[in-house]
Amino acid sequence: MSAICVLFGVLCSGTIHGQERTVLTLEKNWKFHKGDVENATSTSFDDSKWETVTVPHDWAIKGPFDKEIDKQTVAIVQNGEEVATEKTGRTGALPYIGIGWYRNQFAIPNFDSEKKVILLFEGAMSEPEIFLNGQKIGSWNYGYSYFYFDITEHIRANQKNILAVKLTNRELSSRWYPGAGLYRNVRVITKNKESIDQWGTFITTPFITSDLAKVNIKTKVSGENLKMVTTIKDADGNTVAVDSTQAIFGDAFEQNIAVNNPRLWSPETPYLYSATSQLYVEDILKDEISTRFGIRKIKYEAEKGFSLNDSVIKFKGVCLHHDLGPIGTAVNTSALRRQLQILKDMGANAIRSAHNMPSLEQLELCDEMGFMFLAESFDEWAKPKVDNGYHRYFESDAEKDIVNLVQATRNHPSIVMWSSGNEVPDQWGSDGAKRAKWLQDIFHREDPTRPVTVGMDQVQATMASGFGAVLDIPGLNYRVNLYEDAYKAFPQGMILGSETASTVSSRGIYKFPVVEAKMKMYDDLQSSSYDLEACSWSNIPDEDFVLQDDKPWVIGEFVWTGFDYLGEPTPYDTKWPSRSSYFGINDLAGLPKDRFYLYRSRWNTKEETLHMLPHWNWEGREGEITPVFVYTNYDSAELFVNGKSMGIQRKSMNSPTARYRLMWMDVKYEPGTIKVVAFDAEGNPVAEKETHTAGTPYKLVLEADRTQLSADGKDLAFVTVSVVDKNGVPCPSATNQLKFKVKGAGSYKAAANGDATSLEMFHLPTMKLFSGKLVVLVQPDESPGNITLEVSGKGLKTAKINLTSYNKL
Ligand code: GAL
Repeated sequence: MSAICVLFGVLCSGTIHGQERTVLTLEKNWKFHKGDVENATSTSFDDSKWETVTVPHDWAIKGPFDKEIDKQTVAIVQNGEEVATEKTGRTGALPYIGIGWYRNQFAIPNFDSEKKVILLFEGAMSEPEIFLNGQKIGSWNYGYSYFYFDITEHIRANQKNILAVKLTNRELSSRWYPGAGLYRNVRVITKNKESIDQWGTFITTPFITSDLAKVNIKTKVSGENLKMVTTIKDADGNTVAVDSTQAIFGDAFEQNIAVNNPRLWSPETPYLYSATSQLYVEDILKDEISTRFGIRKIKYEAEKGFSLNDSVIKFKGVCLHHDLGPIGTAVNTSALRRQLQILKDMGANAIRSAHNMPSLEQLELCDEMGFMFLAESFDEWAKPKVDNGYHRYFESDAEKDIVNLVQATRNHPSIVMWSSGNEVPDQWGSDGAKRAKWLQDIFHREDPTRPVTVGMDQVQATMASGFGAVLDIPGLNYRVNLYEDAYKAFPQGMILGSETASTVSSRGIYKFPVVEAKMKMYDDLQSSSYDLEACSWSNIPDEDFVLQDDKPWVIGEFVWTGFDYLGEPTPYDTKWPSRSSYFGINDLAGLPKDRFYLYRSRWNTKEETLHMLPHWNWEGREGEITPVFVYTNYDSAELFVNGKSMGIQRKSMNSPTARYRLMWMDVKYEPGTIKVVAFDAEGNPVAEKETHTAGTPYKLVLEADRTQLSADGKDLAFVTVSVVDKNGVPCPSATNQLKFKVKGAGSYKAAANGDATSLEMFHLPTMKLFSGKLVVLVQPDESPGNITLEVSGKGLKTAKINLTSYNKL
């Protein structure tokens, strides 16, 4: 096997093992060509001149940005627009449109008539057409789906098999940057004819007490005279139960296995068990797979809401698109893990995959790190939002896309709810409710344990048509003023904030005067970080907090969005060069905006939050009103400007903002120091923070999220670069052009500064600071060693940081 791994791919080290099956992940030595090519499917085709790439791969992320790419002249009806306008940057202005070809080779050692081979794609953007050894194997339309083909008949024994994949991305097919190419893993699974079916295992935990859990395992298999032996192991690998059965029902075994004193899965205690399923014929082991699962109980009850393991909790969630900022859509576990670490620190407990299937890597991390998950399937049903959207396939493909979503992911304890759609225009008209029911029934058939929601924005229409009443869980996108009406009109006795806020801001940018505003635009194409600006259809976070806190029947919220993403630069979607969103709680580089601390002050109940804004470098604003906001979990605080008290502010019920923020609205700017002192409930000073006016940029400071990395060619260190003055005070408006150099056992991967208007390319080793900061991504090679990142800028002291990569961390 190892020779094959080295030559043609990498053996998967994930959840699947055993000699009876091999999983070859096709990562390296892919050949890629942008544009259509004749005969690219042929086994004799010469692809030596094509670019060599590693998969997962996003062919468009290296740009360049171009305002003409997928320029959409449309009226976005769901945003209330009536007149078409020219939208540049709606899908990120990156070159994802067009055809792309990938080719690779692999061999199946010792292939014989007893073997079965499966070719699995965990996502391919988009409309993949698959060819093996010159023959068309099949195709799939939806770029977000996981899908597979049985390629046994097409395999050439003991010689190379030539795989060719054609992908087609059309204009007007998306509302955000979808990426392009084989952006998720491709695997070749070889097993015996007698084996466990692909995604054939379904583990549920229907009975749980503190002494005992019953684990129900259904396993679909192929073959005759079979025996299934299942071993359940705890997180330390100790066997806790073994069960053997020959009783097969149709094509599936069903086992109920007792686990004593079960340790329950929750966001605070993400405890995972594993089930090893061994399939025998007589006493010969034919197949073996291992599946991780959690033991946990979920319940949704009218008036009471959602409970996990019998405790009522609310979703403190964020919506996420799938791109990872500067590295685009090519799935990367380190980048996903970093996102989740940031969200964990904020106190978030849930993620919604907007508006499509999540990566399997993200689900695994959510299982491990403790996040609940709302897994979504579609942004369109039969009625279009964009001309070439999913509606083209809805009738023919919706069922199989949902089946694959559920079957591939249903063993993840993190998933606690499905969503069949987001703001589908089918909310209007009588057919919509029927479609909602049809889709929901498919989810129920495939997984009877989790409810289904739809993110609804046309709330009045769904109240009138019965659409909302059909759903297991009515999800409202925005429309805070309609929660009460919807709760009364719908029969479920609960409302989910399936999408909330859509507040817009640019990290470190503050605008005056400080007032609440909708669709506010400024000449620099940035939005204010006083966190008072939202869209015409949306609202500031505080208005959601009121509903979450005051209404027991509101079961939580999913904020739009946890991180900025490429495309959808509202409110600047007609203003070039805006090319990425302003909605993120964190920017495109993953750096927290002020809003991060507003959510943290409410969501992270274990740690102190005391955060002051704006920065205090306002040359030219001397004597002018420059309000100061504090986001904190304390109820009151006193503000000082250069030692002078500006008075004590206390949270109050006077308005949503007064309830969740401390605001000193009349402060006049003078350079120096602002200081906030927070008080506990008894009025004792317990914490303080200061912000100083910075001098001129002097030196660079580097801080890595991790300095110890895996020498696997995939891991990433995220190094935050800031510029400080002579006294070490951060310079909040610095925009210095920086250069990056990586030496040793790694390379420069990308950089991002969070500026939604920047046209600098992420993969080039130079970028400007934005609001005094940016982030550099460094990737280790496959051999371990020391890595040094050096960052320099004109007139600034150069900075270095050392990282180390290891064979096994
Ligand atoms: C919602 C939509 C999201 C995003 C958001 C921006 O209506 O579901 O995909 O467009 O608005 O506010």
